[in-house]
Amino acid sequence: MTRDRRQLKLGYSAWPYGRHISSWRLPGVPTDNEFNPRHYRASIQAAERGIFDIYFIGSQLSTGVEPVAPGEPVSDRQTWINETMIKPDGLTLAAYLAGVSDRIGIVATINSSYANPYDTAREAATIDHFSGGRFGINVVMGRSDAAARNYSMDQHLDNEQRFDRGVEWTEAIIELWGSWDPDWRIADKASGRFVDPTKVRRIDHKGRYFSIEGPSNVPASPQGRLPIIHAGTSERSFDYGAKYCDARYTPFDGDQKAYYDDQKARASAYGRDPDDYLMLPGVTFYPAETVAEAQAVFRRVQDAAFKPYDAKRVGVTIGVDVEGVDPGAKVGDVVDLAEIQIADRRGGNWEFHGAGLSLATGAQVIERAFHGYGTTDVTLADLDRFITNGPLLQPPVVGDATSIAEWVEEQFEERRLDGVVVMPPYMPWGLDAFVDIVVPELQRRGLTKTEYTTATLREHLGLPSPSEPPKPAGV
Ligand SMILES: Cc1cc2nc3c(=O)[nH]c(=O)nc-3n(C[C@H](O)[C@H](O)[C@H](O)COP(=O)(O)O)c2cc1C
Repeated sequence: MTRDRRQLKLGYSAWPYGRHISSWRLPGVPTDNEFNPRHYRASIQAAERGIFDIYFIGSQLSTGVEPVAPGEPVSDRQTWINETMIKPDGLTLAAYLAGVSDRIGIVATINSSYANPYDTAREAATIDHFSGGRFGINVVMGRSDAAARNYSMDQHLDNEQRFDRGVEWTEAIIELWGSWDPDWRIADKASGRFVDPTKVRRIDHKGRYFSIEGPSNVPASPQGRLPIIHAGTSERSFDYGAKYCDARYTPFDGDQKAYYDDQKARASAYGRDPDDYLMLPGVTFYPAETVAEAQAVFRRVQDAAFKPYDAKRVGVTIGVDVEGVDPGAKVGDVVDLAEIQIADRRGGNWEFHGAGLSLATGAQVIERAFHGYGTTDVTLADLDRFITNGPLLQPPVVGDATSIAEWVEEQFEERRLDGVVVMPPYMPWGLDAFVDIVVPELQRRGLTKTEYTTATLREHLGLPSPSEPPKPAGV
């Protein structure tokens, strides 16, 4: 396979302040970014400067905030920001972003457990029209009972139900996107014929969850069938992705190679070319001109943590009871490190333990903390700050241009990923640093594009264009 065909994909995952929950406390990080157009415009333009393929928007449908009863004291917990508390509507944000960018693809996350397929098909196709074919959706099924309570339900659907609904929802949307042929427009002023009615059809979808006559009233958008991305963790999720999706947004798994191979094999089993189903893990990068500088930034970010030290949290994460142990004690004096390979320049032992999708093991967490801090001289308090502040399923990759590009290249060449979704620890620094420090080195190695040579998101991702109006896959 030529490099032309397989090129590393670059995505940016949008967070108002950064992937770390304490990022807003760092000097220079504005504290009003959630709905600040300047923030979003600057970030999408930075991603375009790095010739990124995807600007990725997550979704949450409830706040997770614990209200305070009248007269009750306010606890620290109730004043903390959390990942879900404030979330702009993804489709609306995507429409705004489409207007302030030119080339990059945009993906918004939609929760198929609540969204109506006729609405989503129209909304997504509309953004695809307005962006010139740069839009795609990330389908999630959600897991939150709090979200369910915002949608007239007591509980979230169980795993089987949410995927039964999600599958039908997806098939209906694909049918609606295909309900107009691209050459539907006649617009002949002389005859007065505007539409060729033979190019438009009802879908007459009747299923367990939805009954939709169609056609859509948003005719064929530039991509026709928009790229569908998916994120999830269950068997049903793996099957859904392999069958319907163009890319999978994943954690960087404990055994990433096994995860990658397993997902690709599932796509092959559906008769698909596994290269048409991309694995895109989220990774938190700390790039600087020197490794030492990058490690200093890493420490600064961890030190911004606002949750007080919690021995229980550390104990649960590393599997060793540290209640009553001095938080200033060195991790190496408390746990047996004999089995752990200490980080080398690039973060060392990426041969993670465990199979399948699981939370990072204690050894992995310690190893990632050692790598980030750049030393084994890490206290329990340091470790706790890393645990509470950091995305454990997305390992930090801390280094200079060469060491980070080497790490990415190794993962790509060894087929552990097809691209990375950059989750900056804090904004705007994390994205700018990646674009200005790492991207030139990735480009020098021929891993990523040096300019946009394609127009649509589907083309950016190197995905085949559906040659005929899409039909639901046979069940
Ligand atoms: C990497 C990743 C990112 C995710 N992002 C979101 C998100 O932005 N919003 C959301 O509601 N769920 C998100 N999810 C969770 C999914 O809603 C959920 O895992 C999935 O759709 C269905 O459930 P499953 O985990 O049982 O397969 C994400 C999951 C993963 C693994």
